[in-house]
Amino acid sequence: MDSKKETRTQEPGTRQTKHRIAVIPGDGIGQEVIPQAVKVIRASGADVELTDFDWGADRYLLDQITVPPDGFAMLGRDFDAILVGAFGDLRVKTNIHAKEILLGMRFKMDLYANVRPVRLLDASLCPLKGVEPKDVDFVVLRENTEGVYTDAGGVFKQGTPDEIATQEDINTRKGVERIIRYAFQYCERHTKLDGSPRKTVLMCDKSNAMTHAGSLWQRVFKEVSGEYPQLTAQHMYVDALCMHMVRDPRQFDVIVTNNMFGDIITDLAAGLQGGLGMAASGNIHPGKTSMFEPVHGSAPSIAGKNLANPFGAILTAAMMLAHLGFSSEAARIEATVLEAIRQKKTTQDIGGPLGTREAGEWVATKVSRS
Ligand code: NAD
Ligand code: IPM
Ligand code: MN
Repeated sequence: MDSKKETRTQEPGTRQTKHRIAVIPGDGIGQEVIPQAVKVIRASGADVELTDFDWGADRYLLDQITVPPDGFAMLGRDFDAILVGAFGDLRVKTNIHAKEILLGMRFKMDLYANVRPVRLLDASLCPLKGVEPKDVDFVVLRENTEGVYTDAGGVFKQGTPDEIATQEDINTRKGVERIIRYAFQYCERHTKLDGSPRKTVLMCDKSNAMTHAGSLWQRVFKEVSGEYPQLTAQHMYVDALCMHMVRDPRQFDVIVTNNMFGDIITDLAAGLQGGLGMAASGNIHPGKTSMFEPVHGSAPSIAGKNLANPFGAILTAAMMLAHLGFSSEAARIEATVLEAIRQKKTTQDIGGPLGTREAGEWVATKVSRS
């Protein structure tokens, strides 16, 4: 990736018909896995135009800019989708750049549905005994624009024995309702991998302790589920859900939850799929420019060593292509990743002998020939 590339804005009226994708590799292993995902996108033949952006820790440390002026408006105006790596760098202790870029995109572009599919591609990847791919095929829909992530709160009397820190959990009627409705619509419109219909929406909360926000989620869930009598509505407390997820993942179909619980349970769920290197996600607002990123972070301890698994990023690219209408290209990429796993053409975290680049190359070569 060319780290010197500057933010590009298009003149009004020069909008091309080709799908335009902004690519932001970010930090750490983001800079290793995203080039592999880009290689695979190109190999798929999807008619897209890719533009690199250098937003991330290096750029921030150079000029203190996290997001250039008008950056989010530019992404929304000039691009059809955004492909992101990860943000997080030990040199930026405050994590301010990650907050402003990643959470900035989610919040300021109003990407309210964080769609995190949980699919076991091959039984060998799952740490649970006797679990097959058909047993792990669910999706977590995480509210992505509010909750404890809004940064509401503050610190009072800092550094004194009387210090007080508050971190507010913001739940709006609009925010809760739209993610719950998204979950029911998702359930209605998507099938499982074996072609069978999805049937159950499970709302996960902690309403036994967090009673104010919990009550809102409970009431809205009851109300919206009434509009979908053909689907089953279920509820589980988040602590119990964690236990069930590792005891019997078969029972899950569509899970809808708040921002923070969604963050935590999707790392747990990534464990069922072969680890963080395998998990893909999309940050969606229907009809608006949406952003796609692997679930993992910048993994500083393995960064720069050609060790990172690129499949989460490659599967994320497939998710993005499907979102843009390139469903056959997306299906070919997914099938090739599965083939790579079966043939052990993978990185070490999932048992293969390859490096990041070699695993990406193997998939890209196969995809270009398929
Ligand atoms: P992490 O996801 O970076 O790493 C967790 C563990 O998973 C580590 O052991 C890592 O080596 C392993 N791992 C992650 N991705 C992998 C891959 N592709 N292949 C093989 N192994 C992989 O989470 P962390 O260590 O908690 O956080 C590191 C930094 O990343 C922090 O700064 C954090 O804030 C940031 N982060 C960013 C994002 C994001 O940008 N979306 C997501 C999570 C964490
Ligand atoms: C994720 C990450 C982010 C989150 C961090 C980096 C703020 O963990 O995308 O899952 O908590 O949403
Ligand atoms: Mn996370």
